[in-house]
Amino acid sequence: MLDPSKLPRHLAIIMDGNGRWAQEHGLPRVEGHREGAKAVREIVRAARETGLRALTLYAFSAQNWQRPPEEVATLMQLLRDYVVEERSEIMDNDIRLIAIGEVERLPPYAKDPLDALMADSAGNGGMTLCLALSYGGRESIVAAARALAEATARGEINPAQIDEEKFGASLQTGGLPQLDLLVRTSGEERLSNFLLWEAAYAELYFTETYWPAFGKAELYAALESFRGRERRFGRTREQIRSAG
Ligand code: FPP
Repeated sequence: MLDPSKLPRHLAIIMDGNGRWAQEHGLPRVEGHREGAKAVREIVRAARETGLRALTLYAFSAQNWQRPPEEVATLMQLLRDYVVEERSEIMDNDIRLIAIGEVERLPPYAKDPLDALMADSAGNGGMTLCLALSYGGRESIVAAARALAEATARGEINPAQIDEEKFGASLQTGGLPQLDLLVRTSGEERLSNFLLWEAAYAELYFTETYWPAFGKAELYAALESFRGRERRFGRTREQIRSAG
């Protein structure tokens, strides 16, 4: 159905539009997040079936702490429910769960089951599910720069050794395949501090669909769009075509 050689290895999604979905259905915002959590379950399953190597979901940004406390609490509770209820789905499907961001800021009722499932799934090799939690792209770049500066100050590395490869490996996403496709739902067309370094050569795909309505068919449409793209990485079309 989908040509595996033309699939992105690493897909990332900015799951936007939960609040507007709820508003359009005459529901409180938190109901949009609840439906959004259902969409997460469906898309993780579909991504695994399709054969993606890594799926990164922007579940909570470093800036989302500024939302009303009840909304933050609902999002944390949904995260906890997800990790607790999807444990067997994740383990049975050989999915490795990791998290990026300042995860230590999460409340223990969410962080503890998350830590436990990350530890238990660490040896799984089917697909990596990466949840961005209290995540900011600039913040993660600063953290990597600081870690490299500290290693330099301790004399462990020489500044001349710091190149793109070393810097990229110092990011929390360092162990993931290169980001191939970045999807944003709900019609907004911006990165909102997500995977700023990693998105350098990613294909971008925007859809009007609100996240709670984003299902398998929408995922396939995004993958189909990716399949038709010509990725040149700065080279000419002729160079790409003659390289086969
Ligand atoms: C953006 O919609 C979405 C979020 C800030 C949170 C995303 C969270 C989930 C999809 C559910 C929980 C996650 C997991 C992993 C179980 P918005 O509220 O900004 O929507 P709006 O722009 O329409 O107001």
